[in-house]
Amino acid sequence: MRARVFPDYDAMSAAAADVVAQSLEQLPSAVFMLPTGITPLGMYRRLVDMHRSEGLTFAEATFFNLDEYLGLASDHAASYHMYMKEHFYGLIDADPTRIFVPEGTAPDPEAECERYEAAIAEAGGIGVCVLGIGRNGHIGFNEPGASFDSRTRVVELSESTRKVNAGDFEADRAPERAITVGMATIFESREVLLLASGTNKAGAVAAAMEGDVSESVPASMLRSHPNASLFLDEDAASDLGRGVAG
Ligand code: F6R
Repeated sequence: MRARVFPDYDAMSAAAADVVAQSLEQLPSAVFMLPTGITPLGMYRRLVDMHRSEGLTFAEATFFNLDEYLGLASDHAASYHMYMKEHFYGLIDADPTRIFVPEGTAPDPEAECERYEAAIAEAGGIGVCVLGIGRNGHIGFNEPGASFDSRTRVVELSESTRKVNAGDFEADRAPERAITVGMATIFESREVLLLASGTNKAGAVAAAMEGDVSESVPASMLRSHPNASLFLDEDAASDLGRGVAG
C-alpha cells in the first residue's frame, strides 16, 4: 500500500476526489464502493463542486455503500442511506437504479447480504473502493478479528465503535449490529483508496502500515493488495516511523 501524506484535510480530500473523477473520465460506467463517516465529507463536497462547476457526470456510474446499521429504516436520520443522500447521491446526477446501500430493515438480513454480494458480482465487481479507518483499525464495519475471507454479512459492532458513533443516536445508543461488506469483497476491488485524517487515527494508521498484517488490525490486509493507496493528512501520519505500531 502506497502512502501519500498531504499537508491538511482539504488537500487530502481534493486528491481523493481527483482519484474518483479520473476513474470516471477513463470509464464513465465505473463501479464504486463508498464509505460514510466524517472523513469522506471533504471528498464528497469536492466531487459535488466538480459536478456543479465542471460538469463532472456520475450518470453512468454504479455505487455501492460499505455498510448500514441493522434495524435502521432508510429514512432514519442516522441511517447511511440518509447520509449518502444528504452528502452525495442527492446532490449529483447519479442514476437511482445504480445506487446500492444495504437495507437495514430487510426482513431476512442474511438474504439481504446474499442479494448485496450478488449485485456487486452482477455489476462486474468493484472498480474503486474508498474506505475510512476506525480508531480500532476497522474498515467498513469489519471489526478487529474479522476474517480476511469474509463476505457481506451481519456483524456485531464493537463497544468502541458504538461509543464513537453514539452521538448520532437518541440517548447515545448506537445499534448493536450492522450489515457490512466483507473483507474478501473489499480486497477484490481493483483499486482501494484508504483515507485517514486527524491524530485520533494516527495509532490505527501506524498499526495498519507498520504492525503485522493481521486480522486483529483489519486495515493491515490492504498492505497485500496490488493497487491500494493510503491518503492521509499530517496528523494521521504522526505516529508513522516511530516504532509505536502494535
Ligand atoms: C463507514 C465505515 C467506517 C468508517 C470509519 C471511520 O461507512 O465503513 O469504517 O469509515 O469508522 O469513520 P470516520 O470517518 O467518521 O472517522
